[in-house]
This record gives sequence, C-alpha cells and structure tokens, in this order.
Amino acid sequence: MALTTTGTEQHDLFSGAFWQDPHPAYTALRDEEPVRKVALPDGEAWLITRYADVREAFVDPRLSKDWRYTLPEDQRAGQPAAPTPMMILMDPPDHTRLRKLVSRSFTVRRMNELRPRVEEIAQELLDRLPSEGTVDLMREYAFQVPVLVICELLGVPAEDRDDFSAWSSVMVDESPAEEKFAAMGKLHGYLTELLERKRTEPDEALLSSLLAVSDEDGDRLSSEELVAMAMLLLIAGHETTVNLIGNGVLALLTHPEQRAQLAADPSLITSAVEEFLRFESPVSNAPMRFTSEDVTYSGVTIPAGSTVMLGLAAANRDPEWAERPEELDLGRDSSAGVFFGHGIHFCLGAQLARNEGRAAIGMLLEQRPELALAVAPEELTYRESSLVRGLTSMPVVAGPA
Ligand code: HEM
Repeated sequence: MALTTTGTEQHDLFSGAFWQDPHPAYTALRDEEPVRKVALPDGEAWLITRYADVREAFVDPRLSKDWRYTLPEDQRAGQPAAPTPMMILMDPPDHTRLRKLVSRSFTVRRMNELRPRVEEIAQELLDRLPSEGTVDLMREYAFQVPVLVICELLGVPAEDRDDFSAWSSVMVDESPAEEKFAAMGKLHGYLTELLERKRTEPDEALLSSLLAVSDEDGDRLSSEELVAMAMLLLIAGHETTVNLIGNGVLALLTHPEQRAQLAADPSLITSAVEEFLRFESPVSNAPMRFTSEDVTYSGVTIPAGSTVMLGLAAANRDPEWAERPEELDLGRDSSAGVFFGHGIHFCLGAQLARNEGRAAIGMLLEQRPELALAVAPEELTYRESSLVRGLTSMPVVAGPA
C-alpha cells in the first residue's frame, strides 16, 4: 500500500484494508515517512515507526505522559494531571514513587511462584475445550487465560471470578462506551470492597501485599492508588496477553512448517514467544506521549504540544535490526524487540506475560495436534484499535484430544 500524502499532512491510516493487514502501510511509513501525522478516531497523533527512533523516543524526557502539554500554557493550571492515579499515565517523580512501591510486591519470586498456577489454569481451560466441532479459541481460551491469571495474581476469590471476568470483557471488547463505563464503575466498586476485606483478612496474593507495602520512608499507596493499580494491572495484563496468545496460535496455524518444528522441539517455545511478539506485536502502538517542547526524529520536527505514538509493530519489523523481518522464524533471537516498551515504563508484567504465552501456546499445541482454522485466514476479522492488534474471534476445528 503506497501512502500518497506527504509532510505534516494528516493521513487516514487506521481504516479500511489496514485492519486486515497493517504491515504494508507500516512498511511504507517506515521507508518513506518515518515520522508523520495520522488521524485517530478521537483526534490525531504523530506516529514514529523506525526501530532506532522508537527506542530513543522511549527514553526521551521531552516525550511526557502529561496530557496537559496539549493545552495552551495559560490553560494548564488547575487541570487534573491524569483521570485516575495510574502510573502508566504519569511522569517522574510521581511515576517513580508508584513504580517503586508496586515493584516491592511484583517480584521475580512472585512471578516464579505463579508459574505452576498459570499452567494449571491453562490445563483446566484445555480440559474444558470441546474435542470436536468448531470453537471460538479467542473466547474459550485466549481471553480466559489472562483474566484467570490476573484473578490469581490479585487474589480475587474463586466465587467472584465470573463477575470479574464479565466486567473485564466488557471493558476490553468493542462494547458501546456507556457499557464500558458502567462495567468500569462496577469493577471499581468491587475492587474497593475487596481491598477493604483484605485489610481485615489478608492473604498471600498481590492486593494484600500492596496493602502492606511501604518503603523506607513509610510511604504507602492510598486507597485510590491501590484501586487504580489493580485496574491498571487488569487492563494492561489482559488486553495484551489475550492477543499474544491469539496472534501466536494464528501464526502457528498459518505456518505449518514452523508449527512442525516447534512440535518436534518443544524447547523452542521460549524463542518462539519472543518471535510471536515481534512478528505480530500485541501492543501495536504504545500509549500516547505528549511533547513538552519541539523534538526532531529522522529529520522531522514534531512541534511542542503534540500527541505522539510509538509504532511498536512497525519498529519490530524494521529491517535495520531484524533480518527478513516479514518472515516468521521461531528459532531466531527476537529478544531485542520493543514489544514490551523500553525505559521507565517498561512492562511490569513482561515475565508473567512470557510465562502465560509459553504455557498457553505450548500446551495447546502439544495437546491438540489436530487443531486447525475453521475458516480461511482472509475471513478472520481484527479489532479496530490503533493500540492493540488482535482477532475478534478465531473459529477453529478442535479435533480429537
Ligand atoms: C507497560 C506491553 C502484559 C502490566 C507496558 C508497555 C508495553 C506493554 C508496550 C509500555 C507502555 C508505555 O510505555 O506507555 C505488554 C505486552 C504484554 C503485556 C505486549 C503481553 C504480551 C502485561 C501483564 C501485566 C502488565 C501480564 C501485569 C499483570 C503492565 C504495567 C505497565 C505496562 C503495570 C505500566 C508500567 C509503567 O508505567 O511503569 N506493557 N504488556 N503487562 N504493563 Fe505490560
């Protein structure tokens, strides 16, 4: 797909054929207009698509998370910094403070301890998948693994998990805005109550640990910060991992020779998950940044006060760092990809996501060798989101177990 407009003119990138296959458009941008303005459903942003630029931009303090830079200077005072106290929406020192507090609970040890539970969750879901007929693998599997893992991580009691999962699904799918808003309200109310219960009945899970955590100076998370953190973990850990599993399974189903290679050598799953993340990045463009002053990348100046998106999907297929970028190659080392971001906001859940991807995709492949797409790949539809890349559904023939 050739992009015909030039310079600072806005381009309608996120529409039409783009959703089916965005990569030709990303390639054209990277080659011809590596920094350009694009239209979004609710505004416009500058999209940066080259790997070297994206990595540099992630650590550029002039690319702020503070949306108030988009306002004229005299109108900033009195505006709230972020709608909720989520650290992903904050700059230092507020971000530093929250990240430090949560990092004390979100430890490598906790992630390792969770690993056998991730496998058990995947196994329970696999056991429930029908062994014949057609099934929507997104709904029955890819969606379920991350939400159940987050319930386990946070310490959501088993009896509440169906409600929790239903609210999350409304929040992350293409439901109308009012429904999303209502679901978010219910989840917020539920988490506030759950936190109250954990104050008196603490357990080993993350919410209790976050309630207890304080740093050397006695700093703690406020109730509102705790709820915001739980919501952030849910959204950031779910919207993304569902698509790692979906995109990874689809990549295998459409590349039989790679699938056979992985089936013959299951230890390849570690590098395979990195390659799935590179090949079809679940977070296609990183959440917005705002320029505090003029910045120049690849010779193009983005004015102060602009909204900027960092193009992860495009950067991860940049031939400047990845050889044969359009090819899926499960044996290659893709670990230098920018699929989890870079710098101070680097994904807090990267290790957990990797564990989920390895368990969910590896176990499915091993236990369902007959699994096949029930429709032609061209018939699959994708979510129309400029931030995440994932299927709306994936009908598969389950085959005999
Ligand atoms: C941040 C990707 C899974 C929690 C990020 C960022 C990316 C990302 C690109 C950086 C955002 C930015 O710079 O604006 C992914 C992908 C995942 C995944 C591709 C799955 C395949 C998870 C999981 C969790 C999680 C499982 C937790 C349960 C977070 C949090 C942040 C974050 C809390 C914000 C960190 C901060 O602001 O300091 N993730 N993520 N993510 N991710 Fe993930």
